[in-house]
Amino acid sequence: MPMPMNDPSATANPPATAPPATDDVLVARGVFRFQTVHGQQVPIVRDIGLALRPREFAAVMGPSGSGKSTLLHLLAGLDRPSAGEILVGGEAIHLGDEELRAAVRRRRLGFIFQFFHLLPDLTVEENVTLPLRIAGQNPKRHRERIQSLLTLLGVQALADRLPMALSGGEMQRVSIARALATEPPLLLCDEPTGNLSSKAGEEVIALLRSVRDRLGTAILLVTHNPRDAAAADRVLFLHDGALREHAELKGGPFDVADVVRRLQELGI
Ligand SMILES: Nc1ncnc2c1ncn2[C@@H]1O[C@H](COP(=O)(O)OP(=O)(O)OP(=O)(O)O)[C@@H](O)[C@H]1O
Ligand SMILES: [Mg+2]
Repeated sequence: MPMPMNDPSATANPPATAPPATDDVLVARGVFRFQTVHGQQVPIVRDIGLALRPREFAAVMGPSGSGKSTLLHLLAGLDRPSAGEILVGGEAIHLGDEELRAAVRRRRLGFIFQFFHLLPDLTVEENVTLPLRIAGQNPKRHRERIQSLLTLLGVQALADRLPMALSGGEMQRVSIARALATEPPLLLCDEPTGNLSSKAGEEVIALLRSVRDRLGTAILLVTHNPRDAAAADRVLFLHDGALREHAELKGGPFDVADVVRRLQELGI
């Protein structure tokens, strides 16, 4: 596949004055996160600006310790930025107390972790429908949709099993189904293949693309794996907590070699 040309005017950090497209599913502007390290305030995430369009599948690549998880937790409202603003579906998720942020989270996004976080005493189907119950909805009313979600993720035959009877790849596919149970327009994924074999990881990434194609969910995937990032429409590069301007790849999916070459060009 040819290397896509990069638009030299494109930037990972849109100017603060640029108004966001009103239907962006995710907007971050001027986001910083400081942590105290040896008594000093150190920026872990620095001046992040990004926007994600509906149905877009974007990857953020960066080495271990570059701030990927910190950034994703900020974007999900699991942590609060030291400065800047974050809008999820137009709603501020950087403001308010935990209860308010949790409400935005429940309405607007799903989150997938490296270590699945399935509840061990609930069956696959009970795990998947849990977000509906938390949102005060009766899972029986959504039965057909949940069945087709389990089918899309290839876990419908496992509906009555407990998580301990699943492989890692199956557990991650169940956690993707759970993250999508409430039909969020945005899915945030933190190294979803980091704990999987190469083959199971490839399957998970292919399923994320199917989820985007079939359900229209926008996906932001953080990873240090070039193969995972290559499946995205757009790849952004994070280094020392900052997005590298003018570095992003557009027009994916890409050849893995193109992603690796860009990493080498950037020296990360
Ligand atoms: N609570 C904290 N206090 C101090 N430093 C922190 C804290 N959380 C994270 N850091 C530091 O911030 C940096 C970024 O961490 P983060 O977990 O976001 O990286 P990452 O890119 O997700 O790494 P990995 O690929 O290993 O998961 C690291 O140097 C880490 O040690
Ligand atoms: Mg991480």
